[in-house]
Amino acid sequence: SNGVEDYLTDEIQELLSTLPREKSFDGSYLYQYQGFWYRSIYIAGMISAHRHFQARDSDTILITCPKSGTTWLKALTYATVHRSRYAIEHSPLLTTNPHELVPFIDHPAYYLKINQSPTTSIFGTHIPYSSLPHSVVDSNCRIVYMCRNPLDQFISHWHFMLKIAQDRKMEPLSLEEAFESVSNGIQGFGPFWEHVLGYWKASLDNPHKILFLKYEDVIENTLFYVKKLAEFLGCPFSDVEEKLGVIEEISKLCSFENMKDLEVNKTGRLLPDRGPKNSDFFRKGKVGDWTNYLTSAMSESLKILMDEKFSGSGLTF
Ligand code: A3P
Repeated sequence: SNGVEDYLTDEIQELLSTLPREKSFDGSYLYQYQGFWYRSIYIAGMISAHRHFQARDSDTILITCPKSGTTWLKALTYATVHRSRYAIEHSPLLTTNPHELVPFIDHPAYYLKINQSPTTSIFGTHIPYSSLPHSVVDSNCRIVYMCRNPLDQFISHWHFMLKIAQDRKMEPLSLEEAFESVSNGIQGFGPFWEHVLGYWKASLDNPHKILFLKYEDVIENTLFYVKKLAEFLGCPFSDVEEKLGVIEEISKLCSFENMKDLEVNKTGRLLPDRGPKNSDFFRKGKVGDWTNYLTSAMSESLKILMDEKFSGSGLTF
């Protein structure tokens, strides 16, 4: 067993039977647990992470709401932190998907890999701030959070779930139905605004612990943010490295165009016979693709909702 089939233990089944549930974009179910919506596998994974994941002071945890740039943030951080161990032309990122190099702490399949690899120090998760394992909050480990424009995140998420539904021959929600769900806060790891605001507020309270990034800012000025990321993680680029163009090399290695065309990301899969394909994580990589999908009534209504939810926080999109 690879641990994925086993995740629905009696305990988890029993818990699920007590939770409110709603349709997910892919036609499966999301369950409301501790104020957020999850697929069952992530509830099992989160409970397992609460019990077993022990963050160390030297760890880095990369956190996102899904489809906000997780794969990219994992690549950038991995390349930056391990730059003296691997020259760019030998980077494991050239032959391995970022989700394999930077495992999720809350996914049963990848959790097994963590146990097998005590040297791993960079992890990923979508767990909301209020439900993080205690050791992540209480240790001196660092958190990097990346958020994305909610309209682009929605369109990216909808496409991703559509592919999953096709793969599993399920009946996905229409764009209109998915839009309705998101407007009610219902999407994996949603409500979106609760997820983002949790980390936004925590980053204001503790800026040395949590670096808060926006996908759009990093797209616009990648070099600046790679430098900032390295400083935040305690491994700043030296003057020599800067002169040699190491920051440019890392940003090029991790660029959408480069990553999407790598053999491993065109043909690979994280789990041998199920789950998303590596290629599903690379769609367009653009800012503002929502304009191609949302009617003006939809975009207006979502913008008004988000303005309302984020008002007074100091965070804008
Ligand atoms: P789109 O669907 O808008 O193209 P996540 O990694 O959190 O699952 O998010 C996936 C989104 O990030 C997708 O957005 C994907 O194309 C984009 N993405 C993946 N790799 C990227 C990269 N290296 N640079 C920029 N965007 C990237």
